Amino acid sequence: MRSQLLSAVEPPHPLGMNEERPEKACRSRSDSALVIFAYAQVAFFHHHLSFPPIRQVKAMDKLNIETKVTLRDEYQMPVLGYGTYELEGNEAYEGVLSALEAGYRHVDSATWYENEREVGQAILDFCRTSGTPRGDVFYTTKLKLNNGYENVKKAVQRSLDVCGLGYIDLYLVHGPIGGPEARRESWRAICDFQKEHPGLLRSVGISSFGIRHMKEIIESGLPLPVVHQIDLHPFMTRTDIVAFSKQYGIVMQAWGPLVRGYRFDHPTLAKLSTKYEKDAAQILLRYSLQKGYVPLPKSATKQRIISNSKIFDFSLTEEDVAVLDALDEALVTDWDPTDCA
Ligand SMILES: NC(=O)c1ccc[n+]([C@@H]2O[C@H](COP(=O)([O-])OP(=O)(O)OC[C@H]3O[C@@H](n4cnc5c(N)ncnc54)[C@H](OP(=O)(O)O)[C@@H]3O)[C@@H](O)[C@H]2O)c1
Repeated sequence: MRSQLLSAVEPPHPLGMNEERPEKACRSRSDSALVIFAYAQVAFFHHHLSFPPIRQVKAMDKLNIETKVTLRDEYQMPVLGYGTYELEGNEAYEGVLSALEAGYRHVDSATWYENEREVGQAILDFCRTSGTPRGDVFYTTKLKLNNGYENVKKAVQRSLDVCGLGYIDLYLVHGPIGGPEARRESWRAICDFQKEHPGLLRSVGISSFGIRHMKEIIESGLPLPVVHQIDLHPFMTRTDIVAFSKQYGIVMQAWGPLVRGYRFDHPTLAKLSTKYEKDAAQILLRYSLQKGYVPLPKSATKQRIISNSKIFDFSLTEEDVAVLDALDEALVTDWDPTDCA
């Protein structure tokens, strides 16, 4: 039934159907931005959870660089983000400026990357010089260490101070390392900070958690994450973690969406590049969007930052998405803590 409602022009975005709806007064977004509801087809409900049904309205709307997904907490996140891993100092500053000038409105940083200051400054400078409201740019950063309740609260405050943005749109636990107790304390501290300082941490989530780690949060009775950032691309599809996260209405962000460049020469990508007249990076990013993920491509190169955003003027067929899915080889491009104790 869902497919009957979809446009022949644009394939469905698995995150959900677009629907215009009144925004909350406290949110800022551009008038033309589309609103998307998370496509969390809930197979079962945990006892303390309930989710709205899938919205099937205005399915013809096209994805564009301003498209946003509405998270379970009702905040909205642009469906394309800019990654800043390994960008330091002026390179981070210039990279973020280039991304914002190219139309990205979502930037991913982390305490580990040691670039929160430069990323924040670039956002502030861009907003000031272009007249863009701060609220139009979605900023993510992440907790470096699971090192105890009070330390985590201090780390959150430090990230807030360093970026200079006034608030953080999305704060993630960077990884599950440290054991059950340390994970629980990190999550409790972040949730408490969010409650105690309304508006300073708008959304909270996790990164690179395995299913077992996610179950710990569910069983703790603490609020659930609204986003899960993990390595997702055709060579690492993580279907189990994606399915589990989606059961709980958690939106997936894809790190390493370009496979860090390790598979650009793969014959399947070469074939699809020729077919769609797009480069391998654009094919991979379009795949990510069509899977319902929020890709976070990183590039230090202005030209690539721009070309990586040119992914809204074509779409892959469902067959070609399936062809890409079949390339899974569980390829770890950076780290994989999903099985850690
Ligand atoms: N949560 C986590 O644990 C975690 C882990 C890793 C990453 N992340 C986040 O996800 C982001 C993306 O992941 P990633 O940086 O690991 O990898 P990625 O985005 O998959 O790939 C980045 C690599 O691809 C190259 N590249 C970018 N665009 C290109 C293009 N159009 N043509 C050819 N090469 C291109 C870049 O080189 P140039 O810079 O020279 O263009 C860089 O070497 C990170 O920056 C970070 O924000 C999160």
